[in-house]
Amino acid sequence: MAEDTTVAVLGTGIMGAAMARNLLSAGMEVRAWNRSREKAEPLEKEGAEVADNPEDAVRGADFVLTMLADADAVEEAVGKDVLSALAEDGAWLQMSTVGEGGNARLAGLAADSGVAYVDAPVLGTKQPAEQGQLVVLASGPEEIRERSEEIFRALGSKTVWLGEAGEGSRLKLVVNNWIVGLLGVLAETVAFAEAIGVDPAKFLETIEGGPLGLPYAQMKGMMMVEEDFPTSFSANLARKDAALVLDAAEAHALRMRITESVVARFDEAIQAGHGEEDMAAVYRSARPD
Ligand SMILES: NC(=O)c1ccc[n+]([C@@H]2O[C@H](COP(=O)([O-])OP(=O)(O)OC[C@H]3O[C@@H](n4cnc5c(N)ncnc54)[C@H](OP(=O)(O)O)[C@@H]3O)[C@@H](O)[C@H]2O)c1
Repeated sequence: MAEDTTVAVLGTGIMGAAMARNLLSAGMEVRAWNRSREKAEPLEKEGAEVADNPEDAVRGADFVLTMLADADAVEEAVGKDVLSALAEDGAWLQMSTVGEGGNARLAGLAADSGVAYVDAPVLGTKQPAEQGQLVVLASGPEEIRERSEEIFRALGSKTVWLGEAGEGSRLKLVVNNWIVGLLGVLAETVAFAEAIGVDPAKFLETIEGGPLGLPYAQMKGMMMVEEDFPTSFSANLARKDAALVLDAAEAHALRMRITESVVARFDEAIQAGHGEEDMAAVYRSARPD
């Protein structure tokens, strides 16, 4: 029953705040915690309880849902005391993007505390999160699936159940490699068009509607053409995701030169001060000054 379910949401950034709102709309009780408290406070007006620390948020809750920047941030927030504060059959829905190694660390933490753990990263960015249209890549123990579905239904349009915890994070890495690769080549294509005197908007218009005209290229390409990068997903976190792909590839003896180049482009854009802009700001490193 939604109204009997209490969810502690740790991390109310771009994604976590939108997800907390959708849980509230589905009639659940939400306790929110964020390192910078002021980002969680607006949720109070919408019915959430804002906690001063993760343990207070989690005490007696049915679920703890983590949506933090990376595995280190999750590990800092979710210590043993936090997990043992959950209700007796409480479960951890780990929805941040943490990669293969990060997931293994966090699953180990859950196992040490005897808490059921679902690895459930998401596809979709700010707007799909606000509209409850995320795709959840869920993996974890069979016995917790039905209960977790109640939460995922409030957050997304689709839940893809995979096998053991960790399979969700692995599929997420594969999708992320596709995304950052597309973005890198799009940035260079727009810069190349400009360099040789082709209007990049004409390029986008030409491919639109055909098999080459991905909606993603239109969306991120127009940001590059207009040099306006309101953040749906920050360049800092996209760089983190590309590095997680490289870590996993290395662990499986694979070299990924294209992804390495995109990471180098992100590094340049971030060093130039664009890390908090949308990931499409990688374009700033592709364009000549
Ligand atoms: N945005 C997207 O399009 C998107 C899509 C799919 C998946 N994701 C994944 O979802 C997760 C959250 O992304 P987001 O876009 O919501 O990021 P965000 O807006 O930058 O929020 C990041 C959150 O992590 C917290 N945080 C960072 N370092 C921390 C630390 N050391 N200790 C405690 N808290 C820490 C931040 O707290 P403060 O507010 O105090 O800084 C904030 O709550 C990431 O794993 C990201 O890769 C994002």
